[in-house]
Amino acid sequence: MRAVVMVSGRGSNLRALVDARDAGQCDVELVAVVSDRADADALGFAAQRGLATRTVLPRDHADRAAWDVALCETVDAFAPDLVILAGFMRILGAPMIQRFEGRIVNVHPSLLPAFPGKDGPALALAAGVKLSGCTVHLVDAGVDSGPVLAQAAVPVLDTDDRDSLHARIQREEHVLLPRVVHAIATGRLVLGARPRWRATGTPPPHGLRWPNPQE
Ligand code: GRF
Repeated sequence: MRAVVMVSGRGSNLRALVDARDAGQCDVELVAVVSDRADADALGFAAQRGLATRTVLPRDHADRAAWDVALCETVDAFAPDLVILAGFMRILGAPMIQRFEGRIVNVHPSLLPAFPGKDGPALALAAGVKLSGCTVHLVDAGVDSGPVLAQAAVPVLDTDDRDSLHARIQREEHVLLPRVVHAIATGRLVLGARPRWRATGTPPPHGLRWPNPQE
């Protein structure tokens, strides 16, 4: 399965995908990394690991519509079966959604449908919830609104600030996202209007994991 990964920032989820692929735990061909920001750390990491990179900057295009088309053409040139949003911080426009309908996944740092949008961990803290986590979902035209594919939960501690909660959530993202991508690649998770996990001997990788073995 050919996948393009889209990034805007640090790229820890990209790193998790590359590491899982290298460890033989994620059966995916990472054909390119596409960014909307030239200064994304994820681009440097991608280049270091021998991945093709492309940057499509909004300021290089006449307007939002032109950027949407350029972004879609850039991704499409790699003929991906799957597009993975791994910290891509812009809403995708109609060209991407139409071209890759049902084949775009995103990882989001909250238990959707709670706390969509820019800062899931801060919203969870402000709301006083006691559990948060991450969601891998299919992307549709809305904001973090497509069908949920998998989730992992973590506790929110009284001592948490935004960064400590986000760090705990990210540790789960780094496990969950490669597992979901692997499940899609191997046919365990079937995408479509109503995605479904095929029954096998082992359960899908959702769950509440605490204490985290890494802590
Ligand atoms: C992650 O928390 C992801 O859920 C959100 O953006 C963040 C990206 O982190 N969509 P990184 O760039 O992968 O480190």
